[in-house]
Amino acid sequence: MPGIVKVSASILAANFAKLGDDIARLEDAGCDEIHFDVMDGHFVPNISFGAPVLEAIRNLTSLPVDVHMMVTEPGRFAEQFASAGADIFTVHAEACSDLASTIMDVSAAGMRPGIAINPGTEASAVTRYVSSVPRFLVMSVEPGFGGQSFMPAVLPKIGELRSVAERHERDIDVAVDGGVKIANAPAVIEAGASTLISGTGIFNHTEGMAAAIRKIRQQ
Ligand code: DX5
Ligand code: ZN
Repeated sequence: MPGIVKVSASILAANFAKLGDDIARLEDAGCDEIHFDVMDGHFVPNISFGAPVLEAIRNLTSLPVDVHMMVTEPGRFAEQFASAGADIFTVHAEACSDLASTIMDVSAAGMRPGIAINPGTEASAVTRYVSSVPRFLVMSVEPGFGGQSFMPAVLPKIGELRSVAERHERDIDVAVDGGVKIANAPAVIEAGASTLISGTGIFNHTEGMAAAIRKIRQQ
């Protein structure tokens, strides 16, 4: 089991007219990381935002930014997002024709690579990368939209990836994304997750962001 659990806030749920203010509020609320969802209208049936928006907010926070690329052949954009200030660049296994070379492109651009898998993709699709990437991201909804319901069926897969990491003595980050809220956070942590990504669970919580983050982290 991982030690300290981190909470990453998906700014897909932010008020885009006041994005800078929302990021400052997240930082004040004790958030550990910003999760930046990029959608291309091709890999997923929706379009969000891209590198110019990251560049605009990058200097407003010292928090690490994980760019979640829901984009076909995301390696094409590695340099651009590295220049815009991305720390982690998470690509979908399903979106890369050559995942190994995409991972190399991400590292060469100076970012930490992450590999995301959709709810229907088995852990075995990515376990061979356990020694070459610092993060796996397990989707707990079909990617494309915020505010969907968490799929408990992915819990065993979180555990599988944690076990593979332990067998290889790798302190890898297993992140979980989609529908994560206070109510399901204990099960997600128990399964072996070390980073909990949440959008509406943080931004729409009635007691405010700080309470949401603290309670999702369970500490
Ligand atoms: C879904 C995105 C998620 C989403 C999370 O396609 O990758 O990061 O914004 O939002 P919630 O927590 O509201 O499901
Ligand atoms: Zn995401």
